[in-house]
Amino acid sequence: MLQPGTQSIQALRELFIAQLSSHFREREPLGLYEPINYILQIGGKRIRPVVALLAGKIFGDEDLSRTMPVALAVEVFHNFTLLHDDIMDDSPIRRGQPTVHEKWDVNTGILSGDLMLIQAYQHLANCPNEDAFPGMLKAFNRVATGVCEGQQYDVDFEVRDDVTIEEYLKMIELKTAVLLGGALEIGALAAGASQTDADHLYAFGRLTGLAFQLQDDLLDTFGETSSTGKLTGNDIIRNKKTFLFLHALTLLGEDERQEMVDLFNTSPADPSPKVARVTDLMQQAGIPEAVAKLRDEYQAKAYGHLAAVQGNEQWKAVLKGLAESLLGRVS
Ligand code: IPE
Ligand code: IPE
Ligand code: MG
Ligand code: MG
Ligand code: MG
Repeated sequence: MLQPGTQSIQALRELFIAQLSSHFREREPLGLYEPINYILQIGGKRIRPVVALLAGKIFGDEDLSRTMPVALAVEVFHNFTLLHDDIMDDSPIRRGQPTVHEKWDVNTGILSGDLMLIQAYQHLANCPNEDAFPGMLKAFNRVATGVCEGQQYDVDFEVRDDVTIEEYLKMIELKTAVLLGGALEIGALAAGASQTDADHLYAFGRLTGLAFQLQDDLLDTFGETSSTGKLTGNDIIRNKKTFLFLHALTLLGEDERQEMVDLFNTSPADPSPKVARVTDLMQQAGIPEAVAKLRDEYQAKAYGHLAAVQGNEQWKAVLKGLAESLLGRVS
């Protein structure tokens, strides 16, 4: 039986990947099923399913039979959001490979994504804990609605020039943090946890998710494609109003501030000079350090909620270890 320890994250990930293979369909129409197999097989860190399984372990679902359906549901749901997100962000690569809409086309990305949303609910419905199911479904619907709201704000902000840091934080909470929180909360409910404990795990996941998205935004500008598997600078190209941009405006001198605002009102055919200049201005403003500071504040708050959870302490420590490794992530 899987014991809590330093190897257990990897072991849970492998267990999950083995289960995920049951999801693949050699079915027609191939134009619908092949992109689903593709996006689910080209990699990914599998963070959401692993935290769902950890929630199961924390609350005594030893063989993971109750939480595995949740792990499958959240990962398939996450990958559905990526198919549509890559269309919305016009992103050419994901996990180091062409995005679905590049390899096939936009319509394929839309419909395969739609089916993945349905499949996510099919997995959720396989949870054998029938008493917990209504609460799990309610939480899943709340999370899925939040993600859509967050995505719409993200897109709306591309063409707004009065976005506040508060609005940005609300947006990343919705588009990213609620799903990390939800994976933990729903995993906990499936395993039979009380709503109070599930709520604490949700709060831990939400705060970790905020730190995670801040790191993702940092990597979008300062990371390497070879490790992120994504196009560096895409947020700048899309004029995304991230914390990097908004906070830089508060730190730069007036001329540079105006230059940055002006650059974020353009969409040049060759974006390279714009990306290089904005990256330079952000570096000058000390943005990497500022992001790290805010990220660490969220993480410290997250640990407070984890400490309040009444569950297996050794598995809680494994979850904390995973969050720590996510903080310093480069991919
Ligand atoms: C990407 O999520 C989308 C965000 C919410 C930032 P991940 O960084 O977890 O992507 P994969 O699944 O590991 O590729
Ligand atoms: C993605 O945010 C959030 C969702 C998919 C819901 P990003 O647009 O920052 O994610 P990446 O950077 O493309 O992975
Ligand atoms: Mg996006
Ligand atoms: Mg994106
Ligand atoms: Mg991103």
